[in-house]
Amino acid sequence: DKAIVVAVDGPSGSGKSSVSKGVARRLGLRYLDTGAQYRAMTWWMLRNGVDLADREAVAAACPKPVIVSGTDPDEPSITVDGTDVAAGIRTAEVTGAVSAVAGVQAVRDRLIELQRQIIAAALAQSAGVVAEGRDIADVVCPQADSKIFLTASPTARAARRSAELGAVVAGGSAGTLADLARRDAEDAKTTRPHEAAPGAIVVDATHLTLDQVIERVVELVETAR
Ligand code: C5P
Repeated sequence: DKAIVVAVDGPSGSGKSSVSKGVARRLGLRYLDTGAQYRAMTWWMLRNGVDLADREAVAAACPKPVIVSGTDPDEPSITVDGTDVAAGIRTAEVTGAVSAVAGVQAVRDRLIELQRQIIAAALAQSAGVVAEGRDIADVVCPQADSKIFLTASPTARAARRSAELGAVVAGGSAGTLADLARRDAEDAKTTRPHEAAPGAIVVDATHLTLDQVIERVVELVETAR
């Protein structure tokens, strides 16, 4: 069996992380969460008082943090300068700031390079990888063996995100729906969160359970193999 790369792209709240981890476990592949790296970069910028509205300052600072991603789907880890930030990158503060940081080209260039290195290192050890993000199939790894575009209706995405946050919001998930829409709109300036890359297969998770989505993606990967 040749070591394969599976690209999973899609908008916020589509369930990319749970699906990608599940597929990696099922197929015995490594797992790369590129969103976590943009979050780690943002965590470091906030921590170091970089003015995120100043794109030049963000570009100048972005080579500094040492970001290390573990690729075990059972225990995805991420450190910045040796500090474990797995929880720290999931705060509302980081989520609210990450699109601005991800919109700076120097940040993208640095993280895309890191992502390609991680994928190449896995392949060099004959291990396949499921890589998830917004631009994996079209930018990071156009030679991926399988390309999946995971989507879901805005309501389904907001409901999923609320459940993840354990949020009990009066009036349902409207707050989260607006948050997701705002982040998607900001992300759309740099990546195409709502558009499948050429050659990508669209999987709509709106009416499927997590297990059903994993099953569908596993089938698609095995057919492409
Ligand atoms: O997937 P997640 O919600 O953790 O991603 C956080 C943010 O990182 C996104 O909203 C986007 O701004 C950025 N991102 C990106 N390119 C990727 C992955 C994430 O710009 N490949």
